[in-house]
Amino acid sequence: MSSTVLVTGGAGYIGSHACVSLISAGFTVVVLDNLCNASAEAVRRVEEISGAQVPLVRGDVRDAACLDALFAEHAIDAVMHFAGLKAVGESVEKPLEYYDNNVNGTLVLLAAMQRAQVSRIIFSSSATVYGDPASVPIREDFPTSATNPYGRSKLMVEEILGDWDAAHPEWSIGRLRYFNPVGAHSSGRIGEDPQGWPNNLMPFVAQVAVGRRDKLSVFGGDYPTPDGTGVRDYIHVMDLAEGHVAALRFILEQPGLLTVNLGTGKGASVLDMVRAFERASGRDIPYEIVERRAGDIAECWADPAMAQTLLGWQATRSLEEMCADTWRWQEANPQGYNS
Ligand code: NAD
Ligand code: WQD
Repeated sequence: MSSTVLVTGGAGYIGSHACVSLISAGFTVVVLDNLCNASAEAVRRVEEISGAQVPLVRGDVRDAACLDALFAEHAIDAVMHFAGLKAVGESVEKPLEYYDNNVNGTLVLLAAMQRAQVSRIIFSSSATVYGDPASVPIREDFPTSATNPYGRSKLMVEEILGDWDAAHPEWSIGRLRYFNPVGAHSSGRIGEDPQGWPNNLMPFVAQVAVGRRDKLSVFGGDYPTPDGTGVRDYIHVMDLAEGHVAALRFILEQPGLLTVNLGTGKGASVLDMVRAFERASGRDIPYEIVERRAGDIAECWADPAMAQTLLGWQATRSLEEMCADTWRWQEANPQGYNS
């Protein structure tokens, strides 16, 4: 019998792609999502791509009764916990919402897992836990810090999971630190569908290319980087999804605490991304260099060696594929799932 994975936030951007990878690796998937930043259509399309049924429980990870009912109905072997809020700027305006969703949500989930005797969890952490790193590439043993409530919520959950591991060494816990996920499933049927003004670079560039926005504002042209614009480690969301499957296989075999970077180990600047997207889409991306965005760092990329050594996983998809797959999704779904 295949193992069954509860995917919280499985209707969202990364969670929906993880569902596709999990199903193609032979796992059974159940999604829990309150749809606060997602559409049920994403889960329907995961079913279409994978040819499997994916039950969608519309509920909140902070709702203990909902979790108890879910664990009673489905024999869950492990949880992938994507559910949470992720907009850095919004977290500064609404810190309590971020701590409630991200920190309290994880506490309620862990307690429900314990009641249901489910003891394997993979948590969506972020490269944001490295704050402004002293050097690149970033290794997992670099110091952690937070510069905003979103980042602090991720760090708090990491620490809670560390304490939980110390108290319950029989549990299997994965803390996966994502760098910058971009791209979409190659079918163009699922992808990133930000509500309102996109905070992140790639969805903004895609919306400029498709004509939803006039031009890109490049936040800062005077960083100490080769072309003066910020450098990040963009990772294809399907590579990231496959990294989750590799991490799940690892924690299914081995109890304890796993903390790994999921990145490519390569940096690309904002202008590298603009040019790559222009090539992939055949469209011009007008841009203007403006002031730096508060809180941004100059450069950030992963040392991905630990994931390769422990999980046997590495990112394989190129910047060109990230852009081509984003464009396929954006062109076919100019208004996202509401198209
Ligand atoms: P997303 O917003 O697309 O997905 C999150 C999903 O969780 C959404 O479907 C939303 O409806 C759901 N959700 C939110 N709060 C919930 C709650 N209380 N109960 C149930 N469902 C809830 O975001 P994403 O980009 O797919 O990110 C997934 C996870 O990965 C998040 O935890 C995020 O912090 C983390 N992460 C994202 C990035 C990134 O750049 N996208 C980078 C590092 C880490
Ligand atoms: C990338 C680069 C911007 C938008 C954020 C979170 C981080 C993680 C990933 C969740 C930077 C520049 C952007 C724009 C621009 N999320 N940019 N114009 O800031 O690396 O990371 O998302 O955990 O926590 O902070 O990603 O996509 O916002 O920016 O010039 O309109 O693009 O300055 O150099 P970032 P991003």
